[in-house]
Amino acid sequence: MSHTVFARESHVIEGDPRAKTCRAGAFSYDGLMEIRTDRLILRRWRDSDREPFAAMNADPEVMRHMIAALSRDESNAFIERVEEGFNIWGFGLWAVELKGVGDFVGFTGLWPPSFAAHFTPAIEIGWRLDRASWGNGYATEAARAALAFGFERAGLEEIVSFTIPVNVRSVAVMERLGMTHDPADDFDHPNIPAGSPLQRHVLYRMTAERWRASATTEGPVR
Ligand SMILES: CC(C)(COP(=O)(O)OP(=O)(O)OC[C@H]1O[C@@H](n2cnc3c(N)ncnc32)[C@H](O)[C@@H]1OP(=O)(O)O)[C@@H](O)C(=O)NCCC(=O)NCCS
Repeated sequence: MSHTVFARESHVIEGDPRAKTCRAGAFSYDGLMEIRTDRLILRRWRDSDREPFAAMNADPEVMRHMIAALSRDESNAFIERVEEGFNIWGFGLWAVELKGVGDFVGFTGLWPPSFAAHFTPAIEIGWRLDRASWGNGYATEAARAALAFGFERAGLEEIVSFTIPVNVRSVAVMERLGMTHDPADDFDHPNIPAGSPLQRHVLYRMTAERWRASATTEGPVR
């Protein structure tokens, strides 16, 4: 049986048409942009997202693999940083909403890591969904659309993702996306104290070339 690995969900990127010619780093828009997939809308953040986002960031299960849960103030500051990023880069961690339902379920998107490592400067793809939304394929669906935006609209050459190896749900998203893992890329996160079980990270990569090949070639890319 043959199938196209990235074609399971369609995604439509709506927004300022000038963005088509933009490149990361020199890429901006002032309109509200939405990315639509079969089941999701990836969009800029709204005030109404603050409460469910704070609840999600206070959930110990959602935050199990992070250094700490976030207070309401920290959660709001996160949104403000992300919104500033959209204004600078033209992409970021999109708020994710269920199409037709309107519920905020978390975020997925692109973000430049703020620390130095062997693979930086880079653009990372990341995700965080509320617990009730896990197990539906939403993270992978949103991430495919974010990768498409990064490669097809922002002109990125590579997008990375990283986590601690015990975060198996996150690693599974990276693998479903067709991202590749070379153990030689694994690294100790410089902002996490030596000896912490959160320090060692696995790094996954997706190149624009691989993305293009996977979008046009039948069968999953290995
Ligand atoms: C990481 C995270 C986003 C992954 O969520 P997830 O629900 O496991 O991943 P997806 O949304 O891709 O869903 C995949 C699951 O949905 C299932 N699924 C159900 N319906 C589906 C559908 N219509 N299409 C695709 N998959 C579907 C898949 O079979 C898979 O199930 P499995 O977990 O039993 O294998 C989530 O665990 C999370 O928010 N964790 C906390 C934050 C975090 O750690 N972020 C990463 C930091 S590095």
